[in-house]
Amino acid sequence: MKLLITGGMGFIGSHLVDKLSNSNNKILILTRTLSKKSNLKPSKNITIKKINLTNFQKVGTIIDRFGPDVIIHLAGNTSHSKSFEKPLQDVDSNTKSTLFMLEKIRQSKLSCKFILGSTFIVIGKPKKLPVNENTPCNPTTIYGTNRLASEHLCKIYHEVYGIKTNIFRITNSYGPREQVIPNKNAINFLIHQASNKRVLNIYNKGEFFRDLIYVDDVINGIYTIIKKGKDGELYWISSGKKTWFKKFASILQKQTDCGIKFPETPRYTKKVDVGNFVVDNSKLKKLGWKPKVDINSGIKKTIEYFNSK
Ligand SMILES: NC(=O)c1ccc[n+]([C@@H]2O[C@H](COP(=O)([O-])OP(=O)(O)OC[C@H]3O[C@@H](n4cnc5c(N)ncnc54)[C@H](OP(=O)(O)O)[C@@H]3O)[C@@H](O)[C@H]2O)c1
Repeated sequence: MKLLITGGMGFIGSHLVDKLSNSNNKILILTRTLSKKSNLKPSKNITIKKINLTNFQKVGTIIDRFGPDVIIHLAGNTSHSKSFEKPLQDVDSNTKSTLFMLEKIRQSKLSCKFILGSTFIVIGKPKKLPVNENTPCNPTTIYGTNRLASEHLCKIYHEVYGIKTNIFRITNSYGPREQVIPNKNAINFLIHQASNKRVLNIYNKGEFFRDLIYVDDVINGIYTIIKKGKDGELYWISSGKKTWFKKFASILQKQTDCGIKFPETPRYTKKVDVGNFVVDNSKLKKLGWKPKVDINSGIKKTIEYFNSK
């Protein structure tokens, strides 16, 4: 199988490439920079092209030359705060890039499946839990809005033109190789802080919960969708479990002896925060997938990774 993976050196992308990299597959990765090259194990089945996805003409030529069976679109801005700093860039890298690739598949009449990586952020603050595939979406950030627009484009291209699309939405995921910046993935940032025995800042006294999923479970979920996903469908990839932040902080404290502080929640966070979040993952489970890594061992593996660096 020929797989084109945009953002294949990033957190999710590099783990997915590990899973898919075997002699039956040819993988082409599109990446903006080579800054995350150390995430990848070299393999003769993998080709890397350094390109900004918003250079649509070049991306089109690459797709024509490679002739992928599957495109997995993971690249784009993945930080909600950066989407407010550079809102027009967010439209280009998150929405227009999706539209361009769908239109390319249509115009070139490629029999290629298009799989979009999306996020729980598209939901906004849910009115009812657990969230599922039918929950209304009211995103609170520009990033969430552009990902949601991309999701709609996938549905439209499937329904109007018959393009084979799938969408997966990931909840808060964590594990080795994730960047450790507070404005991208707070979970991994806190695990990293704890592994360095820093004092953790936990908002709202930890009185809120999220649906945390370890990266290996995410990758097996994406793999299941590649193999068995029904055309046109959206799937959630989540643990289906509530993790209270006070419990998360206490696991980190037990495993690392770090400190914990409970400061006032900043104004920006209050405005965009989605609050309590948990997802019903039964649709993907029906395809034979299930999450396997519990929170204690997921955190332990992530800390071991940080300590080995
Ligand atoms: N991590 C999570 O917890 C999480 C949660 C929910 C959903 N997701 C979804 O999972 C997908 C992947 O996320 P991730 O965590 O793996 O993100 P990531 O680590 O930030 O990786 C994204 C990759 O995309 C590349 N990229 C960004 N803009 C680009 C552009 N204009 N042209 C070419 N490449 C570009 C980046 O390259 P550079 O490094 O060179 O900039 C980076 O390698 C996204 O769809 C995201 O919404 C992730």
